[in-house]
Amino acid sequence: MKQSCLRAGVLISGTGSNLKALINAIDCQQLNLKIVRVVSNRGDAAGIKHAKLAGIPVSVISKLDFPERQSHDNAVADVLQKSDADLVILAGYMRILGEDFTNRYCGRLINLHPSLLPLYKGLDTYNRVLQAGDSETGASIHFVNADLDSGAVISQVKIPVLPDDDALSLRARLGPMEHRLLVATVKLFCNGLVQYGNGAVLYRGREIAQPLQLGNDGSFL
Ligand code: GRF
Repeated sequence: MKQSCLRAGVLISGTGSNLKALINAIDCQQLNLKIVRVVSNRGDAAGIKHAKLAGIPVSVISKLDFPERQSHDNAVADVLQKSDADLVILAGYMRILGEDFTNRYCGRLINLHPSLLPLYKGLDTYNRVLQAGDSETGASIHFVNADLDSGAVISQVKIPVLPDDDALSLRARLGPMEHRLLVATVKLFCNGLVQYGNGAVLYRGREIAQPLQLGNDGSFL
């Protein structure tokens, strides 16, 4: 039976390359997804242009207009609700969301993070990986709860750390892998294969002990 089209809100703060990857996948009919709204907390976020070109409505909700977190979160939640978003995707959204917001969207709010969680929560992940001398790193997609980068991890992709790597080269190599991971993971939601239950990830109705790993062919191992 064909699944109905999932409605997503995408929150961004920066270049929006992951938003663009989602738009491309929709255009290629790889994803049965409708992005019903893009929200940026910055009016100068370069990613806004991707939304506009694709005809997706954009809301800029700035902390200049809503200096308190609660009122900012409420404004974001209001536009998402008016857009009737089923799933909320944090794709490079650099503002922390408070507990009321994360509770309201519990199980429907996911974030893309550039490390193999639970390692390196927070910022500056590439330099911390290099300083630790890790031989691999990667990206994770997790359900969002009130604790930073701490919700149940749905999926990951790994890349090796090469001897000459610096933070820029790591970021450049991880970027395209993040795009693939995001598209493949959102596809699981579109196909009704992933849910949230009792603080854990349910894949095909069963709790998973480890995050799903993206293979080289772009599907999960
Ligand atoms: C990604 O590296 C993601 O892991 C992090 O923010 C970055 C967003 O990049 N949370 P873009 O704005 O999608 O290009």
